[in-house]
Parts: sequence; structure tokens; C-alpha cells
Amino acid sequence: MAGRATVFITRRAEFAAAHRLNNPRLTERANTRLYGPCSHKGGHGHNYVLEVTLRGEVDPATGMLIDLKALKAVMEREVIAKCDHRNLNLDPDFLRGVIPTAENVAIGCWRVLERRLPRGLLWRVRLFESPRNSVDYYGPEGGPNGVHLHDGRDRAPRAVRRGSR
Ligand code: NI
Repeated sequence: MAGRATVFITRRAEFAAAHRLNNPRLTERANTRLYGPCSHKGGHGHNYVLEVTLRGEVDPATGMLIDLKALKAVMEREVIAKCDHRNLNLDPDFLRGVIPTAENVAIGCWRVLERRLPRGLLWRVRLFESPRNSVDYYGPEGGPNGVHLHDGRDRAPRAVRRGSR
């Protein structure tokens, strides 16, 4: 093979968790208007599916990008153990102080996973809150159509964020 091949690999994990969408700075009425039944006091649950995609070059010596057992272990320890059968408003340390929407949970997962994975490999976190709804997060500097590739080199933050609201 001429040169190294770049591949994307994805591992999927599931967790069941409760949450409630509620902004404490808003009135109950405003929360209900904003979040509908998702703001009900007792909370509700989802069967979440987390997909973590790494991007990088195949190591010719091993034929692998990463040992999938290592990726599995990081996902288990950093996300699943903290979220499965938990309350996302109360339990995971990496969600303290945020409203646990699928968007914020995906961003939180990115942050804890990136710290524990080999530098520059994390490409995408995709979180399904239901079979029909999912959120993709490509890190603070952009997505696959942006200039930024997660090659581990430091770059100035981009002025224009893609996909932000
Ligand atoms: Ni919900």
C-alpha cells in the first residue's frame, strides 16, 4: 500500500437514563412552553444509544486504528457507568450545571471521551435519544465540512461555528 489509509471506526453503546428538561431560571409556565411534556416534574426516561467514531490512520504493524477493547473501556468508564440507570440531571459529573438535552449530553460525552482517548482520534459523538432523534457533535471546532480535521494540531478557534443555533 502506498501511504497510510485513513479510516473511521465506530463503536456503539447503550444506556437507559432519566432526565427532565427544565431551566431553573425560567418559570414553570415558561419551561412548559419551551420543553412541553419533557419538563414534567417527575422526569421521564430514554433508551439512549451512543455512537463514538474515531478517525485516523491504520497502523500497518497491527492493521488497526485502535484496539476496540480500549475504546470500549473508555466509553464504559467515562459515560456508561455514569449514565446507565441514572438521572442525567443529578448524577453524571460531566453534566453538572447543564440542562440535559440530547445536545448537551452529546457535548458532555465528547468532552469526557476526548480527554481519555489518544489525541486527535475522536471524530464524532452521535447520541440517539430515540430511534428517530439523534444529535451529532464534532467537537468545538467544526464538522466534516469544516476546515478543521482532528489531526491533533492546535488551531485558532473558528469565528463561524457550523450547526450552532
Ligand atoms: Ni426526554
